Amino acid sequence: MSTFARIAGLGHHVPDRVVTNDDLAALMDTSDAWIRERTGIVERRFVEDGTTCTDLAEVASRAAMVNAGWEPGEVDFIIFATLSPDLYFPGNGAILQHQLGLGPVGALDVRNQCSGFVYALSAADAYIRMGMARKVLVVGAEVHSRGLVFSDSGRDTAVIFGDGAAAACVEAVGPESGSRILRHALHADGKYARELCILKPGSASAPYVSNDHIEAGLTAPYMNGREVFRHAVTKFPAVIQEVLEAEGLEAADVDFLVPHQANLRITEAVRQRMGLPEDRVASNISHYGNTTAASIPLAFSEAVAEGKVKRGDLVCLAAFGAGFTWGASLLRY
Ligand code: COA
Repeated sequence: MSTFARIAGLGHHVPDRVVTNDDLAALMDTSDAWIRERTGIVERRFVEDGTTCTDLAEVASRAAMVNAGWEPGEVDFIIFATLSPDLYFPGNGAILQHQLGLGPVGALDVRNQCSGFVYALSAADAYIRMGMARKVLVVGAEVHSRGLVFSDSGRDTAVIFGDGAAAACVEAVGPESGSRILRHALHADGKYARELCILKPGSASAPYVSNDHIEAGLTAPYMNGREVFRHAVTKFPAVIQEVLEAEGLEAADVDFLVPHQANLRITEAVRQRMGLPEDRVASNISHYGNTTAASIPLAFSEAVAEGKVKRGDLVCLAAFGAGFTWGASLLRY
């Protein structure tokens, strides 16, 4: 009998501390008007001292498990997507396993930045379908605020990114279940690896990291914003079309689209290309900024909590980001 996977529940958690555009304008040469107009961001959340990326993930994971009706001890695998892990190594998956007090279940870390959650969900789906796991905790979480440069030299990225976490409980279901993940499409083009990246620490040149690297800004994110924008507005619609066509569906069939929250202008361009009304497309970038691997599950979790997504709805998740990597998942919630 074939096995499928479904999202049994979602949960999210953001830090309490709200940082407005005006707060950033006090630190660097930027303005509320510039940030709103270019990105749609009004405010974002930053962690307080002492809170780690895994701490945010732990709260989100516990919320997701409550919503799914799971006991923590039932989790048999963790997949953790982040670009801002607590440590250079090991990854956050193992740290979360410990913080949740789980037995020695497997923990996989995914480094696909803004596409991280879609890649992680596809791996959970595959593990469940092949019988390797039955209850997989899939997490996306970021603490960007400690890696950004809050001065004029870092203003192009400092105004975009925010902290947050979200998790999905993905479980095995039988073929009779109408609630199931349908398919994924995943892509990468490493020709553009250095258009959106953090160069150091890294082993491409010695040493991994030095004071010179820090002074030269190599430990801060670099982004060629125009190049990212140009690719994002074409790759998003193309990969959404790819998963829909493979299922014999079209844009109008999508009950709810959850695009990665990179930029309001990108989301709007994708929404208009698909001909979807605003109430069928997730948009929370105004409050949280770009939370990278957390962005899709955070927007999805909020939409479910607000009653915008119901069981049985056709939901499409779509991502584009560093790598470049991009992808989409199609599911019946
Ligand atoms: N505040 C004020 N001015 C800023 C600024 C800031 N935070 N950051 C950059 N600028 C300036 C630039 O220095 C430039 O000045 P100049 O004309 O004197 O050289 C001017 O604003 C325009 O910069 P540019 O980068 O061309 O702006 P843009 O219209 O392309 O908008 C982005 C910048 C980043 C908002 C836009 O390119 C974008 O959204 N890209 C996609 C980014 C993204 O989604 N990243 C996440 C990846 S998943």
